[in-house]
Amino acid sequence: MKNFYLTTAIDYANGHPHIGHAYEKILADVICRTKRLLGHEVHFLTGLDEHGQKVEQTAKERGISPQELCDSVAREFIEMCAFLNISYDDYIRTTQPRHKAIVGEILQKLFAKEDIYKAEYTGQYSTRAERFLQEKDKVDGVWPEIEFGEVTEITETNYFFKLNPHKKWLIDYIAAHDDFIFPKFRAKQVLEFLKEDINDLCISRPKNRLSWGIELPFDPDYVTYVWFDALINYISAVGYGGEHFSAFWPVDYHVIGKDILVPAHSIYWPIMLRALDLPMPKAFLVHGWWLCSGEKMSKSAGNVVDPLDYARQFGPDAFRYFVIREMNVGQDSDFSHELFLSRYNSDLGNDFGNLVSRTINMLQRYCGGVIPTIADPETPETEIMDLWSRTREKALEAYDQLQFHRALEDIFTFICAINKFLEIRAPWKLAKSDDPKDSLRLNNSLAVCAEGIRLAAAILAPILPNASQKIYEIFRLDAVAWGEYLQWNARFLAGKSLAVESLILFPRIA
Ligand code: ME8
Ligand code: MG
Repeated sequence: MKNFYLTTAIDYANGHPHIGHAYEKILADVICRTKRLLGHEVHFLTGLDEHGQKVEQTAKERGISPQELCDSVAREFIEMCAFLNISYDDYIRTTQPRHKAIVGEILQKLFAKEDIYKAEYTGQYSTRAERFLQEKDKVDGVWPEIEFGEVTEITETNYFFKLNPHKKWLIDYIAAHDDFIFPKFRAKQVLEFLKEDINDLCISRPKNRLSWGIELPFDPDYVTYVWFDALINYISAVGYGGEHFSAFWPVDYHVIGKDILVPAHSIYWPIMLRALDLPMPKAFLVHGWWLCSGEKMSKSAGNVVDPLDYARQFGPDAFRYFVIREMNVGQDSDFSHELFLSRYNSDLGNDFGNLVSRTINMLQRYCGGVIPTIADPETPETEIMDLWSRTREKALEAYDQLQFHRALEDIFTFICAINKFLEIRAPWKLAKSDDPKDSLRLNNSLAVCAEGIRLAAAILAPILPNASQKIYEIFRLDAVAWGEYLQWNARFLAGKSLAVESLILFPRIA
C-alpha cells in the first residue's frame, strides 16, 4: 500500500468557519476518500492556527483568556468538519504540547546553525496579515486595505530567519519541478516574487507586544510569530523525526488557498525545510476563492456564507456536491443561493434522487423487491453498460487530475442516460404486456437501473458519502474499496432483496 499524506491550511482561530474553510476541507476530503478507495494508506491532517495578535486581542475584548477563545473556536471548526463528513485522521491545534515541543526543537536547531539571528528592524507592519510588508506587496502604489488593514511603522529588535541564501536554489527548484505547484500558472507568481531580494523572515515578537505565542527556547523575552509557528504544524503533527514522520514525509499535497501561497508556503516553507535538511513537499494544491456575486466575502459586506446553514437545511452531501460541482479547482467561483437551489433540485433531486426512488418503487411493485438477473440484454441495456465503462474511465482520470467538476459532469451524464433509458423501456408498460419477451425486458430494465445506481453510488462515494452509504444499505452491500466494485457486474445485486420500501435522497426544497 502506498502512503498518502495530505494537509489543509490550519484555520485562524480568530473567526467563524465560512464557505472558504468548508470548501478547502471538502476538497481535501474528496481527494483523501478517493485515495483510500484506490487502496492508499492515507493520512489526512487539518487543524487550527491558534497563536497571534488577533486572537490575543479578540480574547481581551471578550474578557476571556486566549486559550478559552481558541477552545470555543476549535469546537466550532470541529463541529463543522463533523457535520460535513470530513474524514480527517488528525486535527492539530498549535497550542498543543506536541506542536510546541517540536517548534522549540526546530528553533533551537536553526539558531545553533546560525540560520536564525537577532537584529533591529524598522518596517511597515500589517496586523491583519501579521507580518512586515514589502514594496512588492503594493498594488497600484498602496498596500490594499482589504488584504492588510491598517499598516503601521514599527522599529524593534527581533529574531530573523535567513531566506536570501536559498533564493537561487529555490528558483531553480521551482523551474525544475513542474508539478510542484498546481495549477501551474501559480508558479509564475512565485518566481515573480523571487526576482527581487527577499527580506529575511522576522520570526519573533517581543513578549511585551505579543505574549500569545510559543516562547523562543534561547530567549524567554520573545515568542515566535505566526507563520513560523503555523507552518511547522505539517511536520509536528506527524511527529517530526519519528517513525510516522518517515512513513509520511514528504507530504503529497499541501492544500491551501491562493492568498497564502506567496510568500508563506512557496518561499518561507521550502526554505525552512531545506534549512532542516528535509525533502520538499511533493506538491501544493492551490485553490481559488469563493466569491459572493463577484465580491470578496467579508463580515463588513455582510455576505459571508455560513456552510452550516446550508448543510443543515439541505444536508451535508448537497453542500459538498455544490462546491465540488461549481469550483474548477484553482479558479475562483461564485456562490449564489439561486444557483445552489437549482443544482440541488435539478441534479440531486430530479436526476439522481428520482432515479433512485423510481427504481426502488418499480422493483417493489414489479419484482417483489428482489433485484432480477440480467438475461439476453438488448441494445438499450448494452448501451448503458458501454456508457458506464467510458464514464468510469473518464471520471477516474478526472479525479486523478483534480478535475472534480468534470468527473461530476460525466457521472451525471451517465445518471441522465439511465433516466432516458427508463423512459424508452417504460417498465410500467412492459408490466402490462403478456409477451414473455416483455417480462424479460422488464426484469432486465430494472436490473440495469439497479446496477447503474450501484455504480453511480460507488463512484460518487468520495463526494456524496451519505447518499452513497444509503444506497449501499438498500442493496445490502458493504462499502468496499473500488477495484472490482467499479466494474459493471450485475452479479453483485442479482437475487438481493431491497432493504427498504422507498427512499427519497434529496427531498425537493423550494
Ligand atoms: O490563512 N474561498 O487561515 P485562514 C476559499 N492560519 N478559500 C478561502 C476563502 C474563500 N473565500 N477565505 C479563506 C490562514 N480561504 C492561516 C493558514 S497554514 C500553515 C496557516 C482559505 O483561516 C485560505 O486560503 O485565514 C486558507 O487556505 C484557509 O481558508 C484558512 O484561512
Ligand atoms: Mg485568511
